[in-house]
Amino acid sequence: MATIPWTEKYRPKTLKEVIDQKDILQSLKNVVESHAIPHMLFVGPAGVGKTASAHALACDLYGDGYMSEGMFIEVNASDERGLQTVREKVKLFARSQAFGEVGFRVILLDESDQLTEDAQHALRRIMEQFSSNCRFILVANYSNRIIEPIQSRCATFRFRLLPKKIVTKYLAEIAEKESLKATDAALENIYDLSNGDLRKCINVLQAASSLNKSIDESVVYKVMAYVDRGEVQRMLELAASGDFLKAREVLRQMLYYDGVAGRDILDAIFRQIFAMKIPDRRKMLLVDQLGEVDHRISEGASEEIQLSAFLAKILLTERAG
Ligand SMILES: Nc1ncnc2c1ncn2[C@@H]1O[C@H](COP(=O)(O)OP(=O)(O)OP(=O)(O)O)[C@@H](O)[C@H]1O
Ligand SMILES: [Mg+2]
Repeated sequence: MATIPWTEKYRPKTLKEVIDQKDILQSLKNVVESHAIPHMLFVGPAGVGKTASAHALACDLYGDGYMSEGMFIEVNASDERGLQTVREKVKLFARSQAFGEVGFRVILLDESDQLTEDAQHALRRIMEQFSSNCRFILVANYSNRIIEPIQSRCATFRFRLLPKKIVTKYLAEIAEKESLKATDAALENIYDLSNGDLRKCINVLQAASSLNKSIDESVVYKVMAYVDRGEVQRMLELAASGDFLKAREVLRQMLYYDGVAGRDILDAIFRQIFAMKIPDRRKMLLVDQLGEVDHRISEGASEEIQLSAFLAKILLTERAG
């Protein structure tokens, strides 16, 4: 049980369980009830429920066994983006007679904006030819990569980025079911660092839970190998106060234990320098020095040595103030 990815475990089984996307869900529910299903195009950013909604719709339409009963197939265009797939796999499925109460099959063509233009034209002909037997749900991140004749044959549903409030509430529910303690700040942090991609948010929460059953911001930073700004600040203050060895310890911890990229530490230092309680003249000297370090690292110099040298420089500029 422990090894199931939570994105699977908490994947909405029916349309009722899909969160947000209210207008779309209402239309989809109507469509299921009336069995009047058009070809559909689901567009929108990553991890907001496009694929999950297509599965949920099929489940509401055909029941739990929707996959095994042969009424629904999923083809992923990014694995098999060529003309061949569309011709063979999709056509074979599309032409076979549908049976049962619903009277047509559903083909989910995921990541269909990855299909070549030729393949899209082939698809368009199949859509016309077999539309009494089957309906297509095309899923894509960008609708402008889908050829116009296909777009005009589909009802388009634009999925929106899930709002922060709704996602953090949902993550809190998962945390509770998994007996985790997670602070509000940590959940907001997960959302911000994932750009609103709920798949990513859930994965981060699961990874965090394997580190610690009580999740705060620093656990989140660790999981995402993201610089903890508080730690960078602490490192700079240690160096400014003369404790080079401790400052270097913090640096090594971030680089080797937390797995943060040297580049990211550099960016964080750059942002943090201006908040340091040191005279402006000293800040200028340090920014100048940071530019040097940036250049050397990009030329392939050792991140640890260069960043350590920068910490030493903080001490050495003390008199410049
Ligand atoms: N609106 C939502 N309601 C409930 N769960 C969601 C929603 N959106 C995403 N999820 C969760 O995130 C996972 C990934 O969602 P999904 O596969 O639907 O993303 P997608 O929109 O198809 O993204 P991509 O463009 O990357 O394929 C789901 O398994 C589910 O756990
Ligand atoms: Mg998807």
